[in-house]
Amino acid sequence: MNIAVIGAGYVGLITAAGMAETGHRVICVDDDLHKIEVLNSGRMPFYEPGLEDLVERNRRAKRLEFVSHIEDAVAECQAIFICVGTPTLENGEADLSSVELVARRISECARGYHLVIEKSTVPVQTGRRLQRHFGVYRKSSQFHCDVASNPEFLREGSGVEDFFHPDRIVVGVDSEKAAALLEGIYQPVLEQSFVCPIHENCASRSRVPFVITDINSAELIKHASNSFLAMKISFINMIADLCEAVGADVGKVAEAVGMDKRIGASFLRPGVGFGGSCFPKDLQAFVRVGQDAGCDFALLREVERINQRRIDLFVNKIKEELWVVRGKRIGVWGLAFKPRTDDVRSSPPLAVIRRLLAEGALVRAYDPQAMEKAKAQAPEIEYCADAYAAAQGAEAVLALTEWEEFLRLDLMKVRQIMARPLILDGRNMFSCATMAAQGFEYVDIGSGSPARKHQLGAS
Ligand code: UGA
Repeated sequence: MNIAVIGAGYVGLITAAGMAETGHRVICVDDDLHKIEVLNSGRMPFYEPGLEDLVERNRRAKRLEFVSHIEDAVAECQAIFICVGTPTLENGEADLSSVELVARRISECARGYHLVIEKSTVPVQTGRRLQRHFGVYRKSSQFHCDVASNPEFLREGSGVEDFFHPDRIVVGVDSEKAAALLEGIYQPVLEQSFVCPIHENCASRSRVPFVITDINSAELIKHASNSFLAMKISFINMIADLCEAVGADVGKVAEAVGMDKRIGASFLRPGVGFGGSCFPKDLQAFVRVGQDAGCDFALLREVERINQRRIDLFVNKIKEELWVVRGKRIGVWGLAFKPRTDDVRSSPPLAVIRRLLAEGALVRAYDPQAMEKAKAQAPEIEYCADAYAAAQGAEAVLALTEWEEFLRLDLMKVRQIMARPLILDGRNMFSCATMAAQGFEYVDIGSGSPARKHQLGAS
């Protein structure tokens, strides 16, 4: 099928490349001319493991093309996926102006039947508004359409894997025709019948559940999923604080709690909190949705508040160790909001660093992928060539993004080059015992009281 994907961000680009790989012809549209130029020259506008190869292979095979004019794509494609950004307005609501603009452009140029699918994360009832919009603004009486919601559940850093091996595909429709078209589009993924571009011996080949709902429910499923995951993180962070206060080990607590199949082990890693372009934004938008509908969403406000407090608590820990931070050299490992991405939007590491810079610390940081993007947001940081350079002469190193490369560092060397061998681990990526054995003072999240840390450090 010919498919138009509007928006070449994380979601749009992975969707476009994934659909092309599974046999469709995809036209990906973005009004950012520079981005289109970058993509057409075989480069990538952002880092995402496995995506560059996928895009390039399909572009060369002419199954995937990049254009800046929506008209060309609409004329050739029956299915149109809207994958544009929905950032947060000051009042917490999702800003739907880009979605509306795309809808307006479609209304102006579409003829015949189209299936318009919202993939951007949008508040419930956006589909209804789109339907009304097309009714009011369509230029041609020949244009008629179905609107569908098809929320995406891609994680940055593993987006390609998530596209090919999703836990489920959710579609919100109000016609059988729309459901059938979407089932056709996703058939290779649903049946896992494609040649897997990421795994040599692809094990995960059972049929993917295809969940068909009404449009409102599909829209809500996305916000509810992200909010639930964010809630799990804030929950374990709350427990981590208690563990620190009473002298228990949050790692063990999370492990055993997560063994209960009803709870599940994932998203129970404590740390400096969740960031990125999704959880903070979606949580705020969902709280607004609840509020506007007259429902009590105080639970989610608390999830947000706990998350914001993670930065205060971590900065307090740093000060507890260093006392005065002004003029002190602090090394930072990790700037991205999580590993395997160069994304620094709502990045907890940057939030911690900003606080330290404001208090006069000298911050020297390293991240394997995110330094270019961080430079644009925080030019005051001294960026280093590698993790050792960031640790050189530092009175403390903050480990803030759990990149695998940090686990392979020569810790003996790190200890020797630091002014004081103090590591504050905001992601619990190292083990207390290993760090103590290597002669570090080590502070993590939620593995007992500060006294325990010093005992371990001294042993
Ligand atoms: C999230 C969801 O996981 C995806 O399913 C969804 O499609 C996506 O948002 C979206 O709405 O587009 P993403 O933001 O890429 O994906 O990243 P996650 O892996 O969910 O991590 C989010 C944040 O939570 C990161 O800062 C991470 O470090 C933090 N986190 C995650 C924890 O602090 N603890 C955990 O146990 C797990």
